[in-house]
Amino acid sequence: MQDLQDIARAIMAPGKGLLAADESNESADQKRLEAFGIATGEEMRREFRDLFLATPGIEEYLSGVILYKETLGQMDDKDGIPSKEVDHLLFPKLLSERGIMPGIKVDDGLDPMPDSPNETITKGLIGLSERLTEYRTTYGTTFTKWRAAIRIDGDRLPTSAALVENAKRLASYASEAQKAGMVPLLEPEVLLEGKHSRLRSRDVIETTLHALFDACRDQAVDLSSVILKTSMALSGKDTGRIDSPEDVAEDTLGALLNAVPKEVPGIVFLSGGQTPDQATDNLRAIARLAKEKNAPWPLTFSYARAFQEEALQIWMGKPENVPSAREAFINRLETVSKASLGQ
Ligand code: 13P
Repeated sequence: MQDLQDIARAIMAPGKGLLAADESNESADQKRLEAFGIATGEEMRREFRDLFLATPGIEEYLSGVILYKETLGQMDDKDGIPSKEVDHLLFPKLLSERGIMPGIKVDDGLDPMPDSPNETITKGLIGLSERLTEYRTTYGTTFTKWRAAIRIDGDRLPTSAALVENAKRLASYASEAQKAGMVPLLEPEVLLEGKHSRLRSRDVIETTLHALFDACRDQAVDLSSVILKTSMALSGKDTGRIDSPEDVAEDTLGALLNAVPKEVPGIVFLSGGQTPDQATDNLRAIARLAKEKNAPWPLTFSYARAFQEEALQIWMGKPENVPSAREAFINRLETVSKASLGQ
């Protein structure tokens, strides 16, 4: 079995990063397909995955792809040849054959917190170790993701109860993932939605990460074999304010340097509802500042929306648009990859 630290290092290979293609079926249908006027359902979700995963050349920029369980068992298109005349590959195999590691999201989504219904708690610990083993042995997944969602509302939210309970579950998941031989991606997403300032976002990110790493230490998680997936420090979406990349970099890195232990082998960013250009420019500024400040961990991208948006607008669910949609995707990948190097 590949050593966990080797997997983490491979995820963080310079100039590479992750594509998050792990929307649940409901999110894929409603937030991706329907939102762009594209038909929904299992076959359309398969075509949506194929659009991105079978794009030629992505191995130059992607070390891994985070998948959803339905996609593990679906097959590629072989460039639109749906007949049985060609050998179709399961998506995880298609990726592995091109040197891209398949990963799997294993949380089961969000439930409202009983005492604070505007906040959520992530579920999915029941039966987790069996699922992890099955994904690892059947599909060759080498890393895995669990997402918690942290909402900011003035000084009221997040409550410390929500932070602590989400942190505990992230740590329990991380411990199970490591036992199953997979690198856990820990994603406590601090949401962009809200009227908060960038400084409030920075504070909440820092507090969230302190709670997370405290819980990891309590549960003896090996911090040298986890990857942190985090939000950037940004003004809340409802303020309408667009922060300068330099300000985003200063506050994001400030929070990370205060809260993330040095032994963590890598940090990846989610795009969180930023436009593709914002997610690119902010990553570039963060990468530059991290170099300047000699940050102890490598940093890169793990985007879903910032990679998908332009391609989905072109694709519209039509086979004849696949080549130009893929071109938009690979161009964005190349730009974001350069940005991760500060270029
Ligand atoms: P976005 O880049 O769209 O935020 O998605 C990343 C992700 O994995 C959210 O869970």
